[in-house]
Amino acid sequence: MNKITGGKAVKSPGLLSLIITILFAGLIIFAGAAEPSGPGDFTSNQFSKSGICSNCHGSSFGEWAGSMHSLADSDFFYNAMLQEYGVAAEAQGLSPEFCSRCHTPIGVVSSEIPPLDGSHLSEVSKEGVQCDFCHVVAESEGIGNAPYILEPGSVKWGNREDAESPSHETEGHEFYDDSAYCGMCHNIYHPVNNLTLAATYTEWEESPYAENGVNCQACHMTPGIVKFEKNPGKAASSGPKREHVYTHHFVGANAFVTGEMGEGRHEKRAIEYLQNAAKLEVNASDSAEPDENVEVEVKITNVGAGHKIPTGVTEEREMWLELTVSDSEGKALYHSGALDSNGGIDPEATVYHTVFADADGKPTVKVWEAASIFSDNRIGPKESVIEKHSFIMPENASNPISTKAILHYRSASQVHIDELFGEGAYDVPVIDMATYPEEEEKSSTPGFGMLGAVVALSLGSVFRRIIQKD
Ligand code: HEC
Ligand code: HEC
Ligand code: HEC
Ligand code: HEC
Ligand code: HEC
Repeated sequence: MNKITGGKAVKSPGLLSLIITILFAGLIIFAGAAEPSGPGDFTSNQFSKSGICSNCHGSSFGEWAGSMHSLADSDFFYNAMLQEYGVAAEAQGLSPEFCSRCHTPIGVVSSEIPPLDGSHLSEVSKEGVQCDFCHVVAESEGIGNAPYILEPGSVKWGNREDAESPSHETEGHEFYDDSAYCGMCHNIYHPVNNLTLAATYTEWEESPYAENGVNCQACHMTPGIVKFEKNPGKAASSGPKREHVYTHHFVGANAFVTGEMGEGRHEKRAIEYLQNAAKLEVNASDSAEPDENVEVEVKITNVGAGHKIPTGVTEEREMWLELTVSDSEGKALYHSGALDSNGGIDPEATVYHTVFADADGKPTVKVWEAASIFSDNRIGPKESVIEKHSFIMPENASNPISTKAILHYRSASQVHIDELFGEGAYDVPVIDMATYPEEEEKSSTPGFGMLGAVVALSLGSVFRRIIQKD
């Protein structure tokens, strides 16, 4: 595991600067041998509420407010699972603050947790993963399970070498522009058996994106979604104009909790992220004889995400393909991947996610019970999978036949959400990540429609050749 040590010069003129520099040099050497910050190391009033930063960093604040980082503590779905963990933790002697290290970090280091019901939390702790937590991370003891070392106080670390602020010291720290920063919390290991429960950082590290220097920040802290894209503007209202300022939306795929908690801007962006992640190609013939065995192949490619799709807490997430083949009169000849009346996915469909098994080998979504990985069929960055479907052409169907495919995503199974909150409490939205043929709007002119069909057909034949080679 790589250890990241920190900082460069403090930007504050004069003797004070020199003293602080020396002090910090000392601190950094000292911190090299330090343990991650733990319960009782600080009090919550050593951290500023985000509203204070917002006075000068209005844009960053506006982007962060409503993000899953700002909701990390208050998220109702997380809290329901946290309460279940609390019961198990007490029974089995597990560390009560395990989950909160990532979801409510200030609450943990200031010993406001436990209790897990949030009744001792200060307002600043309830802000979850917030400004003055993130910008006082001096160092990390590696990747996963949140091994941050905090130095709350007047220095705010960031990506700039030349920032000057009237209200705090600033310090450039390469760590902030490194995926390892995010890797502190975006890899999760079981607290006892060390089983990998989430590994977004590792998935990224082993991907072509890492090789090409496209880090988490490029996609999640710039307008680019699938790549770095400049965001000219000001990092602070009283600061200079900058060619690029990092954004703080931290959008991923969560359109469920953001939507339910009234964060429409982040909900919309999550849908946009999902719709940039995958591509579908279909290889199917447009006619068939009665009784013929008709084969349909769908290739799903992860074109935009710098990690597997889905990633993160993938025991909850669901991604699956819905495939419909119809005859010329619109009669369905084949349909796979539909939802039943309880919101369950057609058992014939492949659901892309991770299934954990408990000690008895039974599937579980309670990660603290996980003892092994039962299955994991997710699609790696820049990788593809091919689904093969087939059906028998009925007697009374009419040619030509047409194929429609939709790649769906939802943040959790409806059945699990109904179990947690009761039926009818929440409808988990199903997001269409990609469709085939592509949405009508994009090929509404007849000429384009034809062109689209030709492209699709020729893609189909290239695709067939690739498959036949295997
Ligand atoms: C009185 C105004 C003001 C307040 C309040 C303020 N800042 Fe700043 N901050 C600035 C200015 C000005 C800059 C420099 C911007 C630039 O150079 O582009 C800055 C820069 C930064 C940087 C960039 C440092 C770097 O090296 O890249 C970070 C991080 C930062 N502030 C965090 C915070 C946090 C966290 C808070 C709240 C606890 C906060 N600021 C409150 C004015 C303020
Ligand atoms: C090349 C662009 C790119 C890079 C690099 C990238 N992401 Fe993503 N990320 C996406 C896209 C697009 C999505 C939406 C699709 C999805 O859910 O995977 C996403 C989704 C996510 C999600 C939500 C996943 C879910 O289904 O709940 C998390 C969390 C996340 N990213 C974290 C990270 C972290 C941490 C890193 C670095 C280790 C990273 N991302 C690197 C583009 C990227
Ligand atoms: C999850 C941790 C996290 C949170 C929460 C967070 N930041 Fe940041 N912030 C970062 C990182 C990482 C960077 C640098 C990105 C890079 O260099 O790739 C950054 C950059 C900045 C910058 C410099 C931007 C630039 O390009 O000049 C400012 C200013 C800033 N943050 C202020 C804030 C404020 C204010 C808040 C709260 C509203 C906040 N941050 C919340 C992690 C965070
Ligand atoms: C202190 C731990 C911590 C750090 C550091 C951290 N995150 Fe997160 N992040 C979280 C938690 C916890 C959540 C989920 C909150 C929830 O769903 O309740 C989250 C959620 C997200 C999401 C939204 C996922 C979704 O499903 O929509 C994205 C995107 C994300 N983080 C990106 C980043 C990036 C990029 C960095 C590095 C600059 C980073 N995070 C650093 C703890 C952290
Ligand atoms: C090492 C950091 C870390 C720890 C420890 C951790 N989480 Fe998380 N949690 C995250 C991150 C990061 C995400 C967002 C990933 C994603 O979007 O898929 C997340 C997301 C979640 C979600 C999904 C929330 C949503 O809105 O969709 C639930 C539920 C959750 N965590 C529960 C827990 C529970 C319960 C524990 C303790 C047993 C726990 N977490 C421990 C980092 C952590």
